[in-house]
Amino acid sequence: MNQGNLPFEDILFPSVVRENWQMMQWERIAITGVLARTRPSVALEIGVYYGGSLSLTSQFSSRIIAIDIDPAVPNRFDVPSNVELRIGDSGTLIPQALDDIRASGDALNFVLIDADHSSSGIKRDIEAVLKYQPKEPLIILMHDSGNPECRKGILAADWQANEFVHMVDCDFVPGQIIEHSVVDGRGEVWGGFAIAYLNGNRRAGPLHVGQGARTSIECLHAHMNSTPSEH
Ligand SMILES: C[S@@+](CC[C@H](N)C(=O)[O-])C[C@H]1O[C@@H](n2cnc3c(N)ncnc32)[C@H](O)[C@@H]1O
Repeated sequence: MNQGNLPFEDILFPSVVRENWQMMQWERIAITGVLARTRPSVALEIGVYYGGSLSLTSQFSSRIIAIDIDPAVPNRFDVPSNVELRIGDSGTLIPQALDDIRASGDALNFVLIDADHSSSGIKRDIEAVLKYQPKEPLIILMHDSGNPECRKGILAADWQANEFVHMVDCDFVPGQIIEHSVVDGRGEVWGGFAIAYLNGNRRAGPLHVGQGARTSIECLHAHMNSTPSEH
C-alpha cells in the first residue's frame, strides 16, 4: 500500500471535490468501483451541483458531457479539462448530448442521472437516455432510488422500449434514512443507486425491473409515513 499516513478520505477518494458532494460514503465507493471497472470512453452526467460526483467521473472517463440547469454551477469548482459542462434543462440537453456522441462515433459507457428528483423528472431523463442504442456495454446509475418519489419515476420509466437493456435493479445500492433529516425519531429516505445494464446485443427474453431490497425499502417508506408515536 505505501501511501504514507494520509487521511482516510485521501486514500479512498483522492483529488475529488468533497464539499457539498450529495452522496454517502458507500455510494462514493460504489460509483468508484463501477467507474474503475468500466473506464468509460464517454460518460454523461446529469445533475452536477458542486461537482462532487463529476470530479470522480472525470478521473476515470476520457470524455464527459455534464449537464446542469443552474447557471451558477461553472463558478463553483475547477472544471476538469475532459469535461464539457452544458447549462440548461436536461429535457433539451440529453437529446443534444446523445446526438453529439453518436456523431463522434465514440461509445457512451456510463450515465449518472441525479438531476430533477420528481418522479416525472426522473422518468423523463431515463426515457431520454433510453433513446440511445449502445454499441458497447453501458451502465446507467440513478441516484436516490431509495426515495419514494424517485423510485416511482424509475419504476414508471419505459425500460422495455429499449431492446438493448438487459438488467435493471432499483437497489444496486439501497437507500437509507438520512440521519441529518431525523426529527423526533422520524427521517426521510434518500440515496441509493438504481442500475441498468445495456450492451450492443438485443435482449432475448422479457425484461424484469428488479427491486433487490424491496422489503427493506418498503419498511423505510412505512417509517417515513408513520407518526412518531408509532415507532
Ligand atoms: C442532487 S444535485 C446533484 C449532485 C451531484 N451529482 C453530486 O454528486 O453532488 C441535483 C442537480 O441537478 C440540477 N437539476 C435539477 N433539475 C434539472 C434539470 N431539469 N436539468 C438539469 N439539471 C437539473 C440541480 O441544479 C442540481 O445542481
